[in-house]
Amino acid sequence: MPAVVIVGAQWGDEGKGKATDLLGSRVDHVVKFNGGNNAGHTVVIGDEKYALHLLPSGILSPGCTPVIGNGVVVDLSVLFEEIDGLQARGIDTGKLRISANAHVIADYHRTLDKVTERFLGSRKIGTTGRGIGPTYADKMNRLGIRVQDLFDEKILRQKVEGALELKNQILTKIYNRRAVAVDEIVDELLSHVDRLRPMVADTALLLHEALERDEIVLLEAGQANLLDVDHGTYPFVTSSSATTGGACTGSGIAPTQITRVIGIVKAYATRVGEGPFPTELFDDDGDGERLRVNGGEFGTTTGRPRRCGWYDAPIARYAARINGVTDFVLTKLDVLTGWDRIPVCVAYDVDGERVDEMPTTQTDFHHAKPIYEYFDGWHEDLSACREFSDLPQTAQDYVRALEKLSGARISAIGVGPDREQTVVLHDLL
Ligand code: GDP
Ligand code: IMO
Ligand code: MG
Repeated sequence: MPAVVIVGAQWGDEGKGKATDLLGSRVDHVVKFNGGNNAGHTVVIGDEKYALHLLPSGILSPGCTPVIGNGVVVDLSVLFEEIDGLQARGIDTGKLRISANAHVIADYHRTLDKVTERFLGSRKIGTTGRGIGPTYADKMNRLGIRVQDLFDEKILRQKVEGALELKNQILTKIYNRRAVAVDEIVDELLSHVDRLRPMVADTALLLHEALERDEIVLLEAGQANLLDVDHGTYPFVTSSSATTGGACTGSGIAPTQITRVIGIVKAYATRVGEGPFPTELFDDDGDGERLRVNGGEFGTTTGRPRRCGWYDAPIARYAARINGVTDFVLTKLDVLTGWDRIPVCVAYDVDGERVDEMPTTQTDFHHAKPIYEYFDGWHEDLSACREFSDLPQTAQDYVRALEKLSGARISAIGVGPDREQTVVLHDLL
């Protein structure tokens, strides 16, 4: 009963969507287990390009059942917009199942996300403004609204009243905003209920039964290891568990059922939003801008330019440990074409001392300066390579060096955004 997990090994946008789509036709279920529409996954299939936010990337594979697990926070307007958009392009979304226990993003969560960021000023996180943090905070505070609450209007009203009693004090007295009416929220949520009802299921049971039948379940993370609320660069993180542990709690699948963990890692590094990033390039010589332009590094969700830097091996090793990575997919190797030599961070200098692993404290990580090793680059276009031996020797050496430094084998290499633009070294399933 194979359950396979896909996680981001850096700060997100590693190409999880492409990897999930690549395996989609061979798996029976693809489960999103954390996050919400803060995610942005671009999937390219031939001439068609899809930008997915809330829906699991498996939705593009006919035959595969996409599942939104209990660990996800669901913005219902976004859900139906995304479904409508795909249906208009001929994608069948009829198999989608949503956990009755998933939490719902309400309008006041989006408002609070934005006003809190403004309030924080220079200490802001740089969130996507989608209401993710406030919705997870309500979940932990036991003030959240779950998908199943929409099926009992009395309960829903009680819960919204309870949440707004506190929220309205905060909105009016701290942030000087207008109070939100209970009816406004209840009516908006209930407007989705008829369409939602047939999709809602006990998804943990459904997945358990699928595994019993020996079907393959792929668990697809949003965000990444360093954006995980426990293991990331807190407080500059998202508010969910984006790691393998979160795949269990966010889906109801037990750890003993996970057979494979695939870490997605870019051949360089990017980050969106605030927070430490030791190998970030500040463009003394234009390398950061070159990576950004060559890699198309602009956010799928917010359109913000992504911060760019060189590959950081200690954070890849950290991701391998935290997630139990069995295989890495190294993406966007093609973007590195054209450099004479490519720096790779192998350790940090923290206030004059060499530190080989992820520093223990946030302060040390903020002070960490990369110690680089340099590898010979290549000038050939890699986009048509399909076998490892098609890669120029220096690109092969670069991949082997990253593999040695990163704590797990590299089983596939991305050489372009299309499904087909992949070099497979070891089967991922
Ligand atoms: P995700 O959030 O991890 O799913 O990643 P995003 O979709 O936000 O960002 C990855 C971007 O890189 C997307 O635009 C993909 O189409 C693109 N991409 C993925 N793999 C490759 C690759 O190997 N080479 C190139 N050039 N682009 C890739
Ligand atoms: P995918 O799944 C990159 C970042 C935001 C911000 C922080 C908190 O496409 O890899 P939030 O709105 O979640 O409270 O914002 O996390 N962030 C992402 N960065 N890729 C993502 O998702 C992200 N989702 C959130 O930029 O710094
Ligand atoms: Mg993304």
